[in-house]
Amino acid sequence: MAKQNSFSLKFDTDWQYAPAPESTDHVEIKDRYDLFIGGKFVKPSSNKYFKTINPATEEPIAEIAEANEKDVDSAVKAARKAFPKWSSLAAKERGKYIYRIARLIQERAREFSVIESIDGGKPIRESRDIDIPLAAAHFFYYAGWADKLEYAFPNRKVEPLGVAGQIIPWNFPLLMAAWKIAPALACGNCVVLKPAETTSLTALKLAELIQDAGLPEGVVNIVTGAGKTGAAIVNHKDVDKIAFTGSTEVGKMIQKAVAGTGKKTTLELGGKAANIIFEDAPIDQAVEGIINGIFFNQGHVCCAGSRLFIQESIKEEVEQKLKARLETLIVGDPLDKNTDVGAINSKEQLDSIEKYLKIGKAEGLESFQANVTVPKKGYFCKPTLFFNVAQSSRLAQEEIFGPILAIQSFRTVDEVIEKANNTPYGLSAGVWSDKGSKAFNLSSQLKAGVIWANTFNKFDPTSPFGGYKESGHGREGGMHGLEAYLKIS
Ligand code: NAI
Ligand code: MG
Repeated sequence: MAKQNSFSLKFDTDWQYAPAPESTDHVEIKDRYDLFIGGKFVKPSSNKYFKTINPATEEPIAEIAEANEKDVDSAVKAARKAFPKWSSLAAKERGKYIYRIARLIQERAREFSVIESIDGGKPIRESRDIDIPLAAAHFFYYAGWADKLEYAFPNRKVEPLGVAGQIIPWNFPLLMAAWKIAPALACGNCVVLKPAETTSLTALKLAELIQDAGLPEGVVNIVTGAGKTGAAIVNHKDVDKIAFTGSTEVGKMIQKAVAGTGKKTTLELGGKAANIIFEDAPIDQAVEGIINGIFFNQGHVCCAGSRLFIQESIKEEVEQKLKARLETLIVGDPLDKNTDVGAINSKEQLDSIEKYLKIGKAEGLESFQANVTVPKKGYFCKPTLFFNVAQSSRLAQEEIFGPILAIQSFRTVDEVIEKANNTPYGLSAGVWSDKGSKAFNLSSQLKAGVIWANTFNKFDPTSPFGGYKESGHGREGGMHGLEAYLKIS
């Protein structure tokens, strides 16, 4: 370490962290994965497979089955067949199965974390401390509801819907599977779930775990494939409910496809959250929250704080501190325990993010990129700040889903409310202020499903999550999350 005093110490240049790779020797990944239908792994009827790759190395990891309409039909039939028994099982017995899934996830948490990071590119610190523990927590939480549904909806009659088709994205693969499967099972439904094509592995590991838990066959079916497989689930006549998390574009297509069919939907779509910092905020704490808000999971977060609003009197200070903090972020190997920002999930997503970097340049915006070296191989993007972004800029209006922060400023409370609400989205928002009254005032005026005060990106199974406007409809998590899987009369 070089000569230093505590005032000028710069972590990135003066302290070199030794590599701290997570070990992978306990992880078992097969060369090829089939479809999980009726409690067994079965070959896809087309016999087609596609590769899943490690986005940090571009190396293939395994082959994944591609399900077509016929396979989806088999999965729906298996779910339908399992439904009468599963839904009439004593509720506390249903709960026991769900508890067992939760405990098995905890037992195998290390393996799940490593696979999540290898397949999707997220830092091991995040899969280990956030994704996998939260996935287990969701199963624990909804296991507890299974035999208490009449307390959740007193004096009402509750019944399961039947077969739920569930389509999930690649940003939180196992966690999104848990968000979807746990409440559906607790309410007595059977499911057909499709993971995203770039991150199928932890869902397939979950299928193995579900076998080990002894869940009756057909209650959970997992079919892999891309958009076409998803569409086959959406369009299947014998599916009672579609639960989707993903892009607004596909969400709109799904809404059109199910219109008039009687299928229930929950759509959890994109976002463009405002993170608002007032002059009375605890600045250093807020800077940490802003960094976490946008760079957590490489910015592949629907509720990411991707628009920052700084009150003018502290603009310079906050921007300086953000630049300094950016320099200390460690970008690179997702399996290294020191890594803060891992790999972008896919080549397609990297291309899409880079398109926005070009747009920012073409708009003549001032920008700042961390002076970090990123690995040559693999899909990486340097954390980036854009300053003085106009309300009309595409960087302020469109979901980028990457490590790019669009910074704006404001003078008054009314001004920032108007600016914050001026997007097609309404999923989440953050407020940083020393004054509780200010935070409460804003939280009632911001059109967003989730609002954090003096923190950001906090998730808990007891708390409902969902959006307004083009961010979708329906709530997942908490007691509200049960409603999405029940007929209530
Ligand atoms: P996507 O919406 O295409 O993918 C999400 C899931 O939907 C995947 O499982 C996919 O296979 C499936 N899918 C695709 N087309 C479908 C169809 N026609 N019918 C049924 N299912 C279908 O998202 P994509 O293309 O991976 O990412 C594009 C952009 O979408 C991202 O840049 C990001 O802005 C946004 N996105 C937002 C997410 C969120 O959680 N809000 C999650 C993923 C993407
Ligand atoms: Mg992959």
